[in-house]
Amino acid sequence: GDVAVLVPAAGLGLRLGPGAPKALRELAGESLLVHALRRLGAADSVGLIVVAAPPGGEASVAALLAQSFDVPGGGLAAHVQAVPPHWVVGGESTAPAIIVVGGGVSRQESVANALAVVPAEFEIILVHDAARALTPPALVDAVAAAVRGGHDAVIPVLPVVDTIKRVTPGEAVVATVDRAELRAVQTPQGFRRSVLVKAHQDATDQHTDDAGMVERMGLPVQCVPGSELALKITRPIDMIIAEALLGEAQ
Ligand code: CTP
Ligand code: MG
Repeated sequence: GDVAVLVPAAGLGLRLGPGAPKALRELAGESLLVHALRRLGAADSVGLIVVAAPPGGEASVAALLAQSFDVPGGGLAAHVQAVPPHWVVGGESTAPAIIVVGGGVSRQESVANALAVVPAEFEIILVHDAARALTPPALVDAVAAAVRGGHDAVIPVLPVVDTIKRVTPGEAVVATVDRAELRAVQTPQGFRRSVLVKAHQDATDQHTDDAGMVERMGLPVQCVPGSELALKITRPIDMIIAEALLGEAQ
């Protein structure tokens, strides 16, 4: 594949409650990160995966991934090995290489760290939360295809199901927002490389997603249909939902 995917996985998972960093918590005996990477690796478009690991946990994450995927070194991996400091887990022409870098204190910083090691030949870059561990390979390929088709920034979205209200700091309702014009945003988000690089260079404030930085530059962002399976595992109930989804045929 000709697409690089950056996987921010350095978050603490505070909303899940006490425990390991979220990407390393297990669902059906496997870490969320391994679930996420297996699905990314199954997407035809993906040729490189860069994981931003919890700071200080880079080596142990690289060891975990090497053990989980058992991909021999060589090919692409040998090429990217020239860019320290990181751990190349594997890579050959058929399986994507995996690079592990240290994450930052914010998601945005983690993405920037991963972006910094992507070799120049990757013209399309996706950014995908490790926490969206069950995202189907078809969604990954669909986002990549939309970028390839000419959109410089692409996000998968779902309609909003709840009624949404704007409130004051004191929780008084200001207005009901028209739900029909709202979308819930998922990952992977896809970008032409130059657009993502510039967005990260120009960003002065913190954003919760990468498309937000592109919007801030005044550039268009295109929506494509998301997937219920791409839910972000955030609260304890999401682990229960994800486990149930794993039990279904996928
Ligand atoms: N992330 C990251 N670096 C950070 C913060 C978040 O790489 N400093 C990643 C998380 O690992 C996750 C994705 O960004 O894959 C989305 O973030 P979120 O769902 O908020 O995860 P956490 O920050 O881990 O969870 P919480 O906010 O509940 O602590
Ligand atoms: Mg967070």
